[in-house]
Amino acid sequence: MKVLVTGGLGFIGSHTCVELLEANYEVVIVDNLSNSTIDVIDKIKAITNKTVSFYELDVCDEVELEKVFQKERPEAIIHFAAYKAVGESVEKPILYYENNLISTLKLCKMMQKYHVTKFVFSSSATVYGSPATLPIKEDFPLFTTNPYGTTKLMIEKILKDFVSSQKDISVIILRYFNPIGAHPSGLLGENPKGIPNNLMPYILKVADKELERLHIFGNDYDTKDGTGVRDYIHVVDLAKGHLCALEKTKKEPGIFYYNLGTGCGYSVLDLVKTFERVNGIKIPYQIDHRRPGDVASCYADSTKAYQELGWKAELGIEEMCKDAYHFLLESKR
Ligand code: WQD
Repeated sequence: MKVLVTGGLGFIGSHTCVELLEANYEVVIVDNLSNSTIDVIDKIKAITNKTVSFYELDVCDEVELEKVFQKERPEAIIHFAAYKAVGESVEKPILYYENNLISTLKLCKMMQKYHVTKFVFSSSATVYGSPATLPIKEDFPLFTTNPYGTTKLMIEKILKDFVSSQKDISVIILRYFNPIGAHPSGLLGENPKGIPNNLMPYILKVADKELERLHIFGNDYDTKDGTGVRDYIHVVDLAKGHLCALEKTKKEPGIFYYNLGTGCGYSVLDLVKTFERVNGIKIPYQIDHRRPGDVASCYADSTKAYQELGWKAELGIEEMCKDAYHFLLESKR
């Protein structure tokens, strides 16, 4: 089966392409390289010894996008391509609504025109806002506190209406918690441009002495050590979840929602201490004020994904820290 992967050269997309190729899917990647680099194609080939078809384009560009559908005739789509920085979305909401919504609408139009009935969407735990209780289940109230999260929630609603209007389309919505880590080969990982928004990429820049120290945003939360608690999930586990979702799209039409997390919550200090211990390196830090918009704790109940997709996270926080640092060291060789 041929799968079109939008944003397939990005952090989660590239790891998913590796898993797809190793499961003998044919992979077509469209990516505009706004948050990725073209050399990831070679890294994917080095890991899998398989090639992908690649088209550099913006998914919002309907003319160029249709040329890919005409030529490749994909049977399924995994849609990663989106802007995803919470802070940036607050500063540039229109850019986020335009890019994230229009790209998805263009894909829906192509699905109708080229009879593609299988769609896996990259959503986010951000759609739950700050939950009243934990762990978070898929039927919890949905509430967003930033434009990035609102784009994800709006797209979920668009896809729900789209599925209702068609009888043969299967859409799987995957709500990610906090993806970190890297492929064990050290060839793929997260390497954002500029000052990272997220915790693990920031830790890596401190480990690499590119940044002097980690700024921990608050240690006065109602958590075990006062720092924020999150459900960190290894990016390889997350990638494998997409293959389980793809299998589901072959079985029944409709729209289905799944949390992809480990079910374990770790604090910022837990992650820092684990990273230091498994990698034998010191991460200097200072405690700063809370970051606006952060919630104290957020972690998943992923039993539905296990029951209905047969998926659960296998890798722990130590592998996440080890693989992330290994990727950094390999990228400097
Ligand atoms: C994790 C914890 C921070 C950086 C966001 C998006 C979510 C998803 C993942 C896209 C928090 C603390 C962080 C730093 C810190 N992205 N922290 N110093 O905010 O849970 O989730 O990224 O899908 O949608 O909301 O991730 O890594 O930014 O923060 O202390 O320099 O680390 O306060 O407790 P977050 P994060």
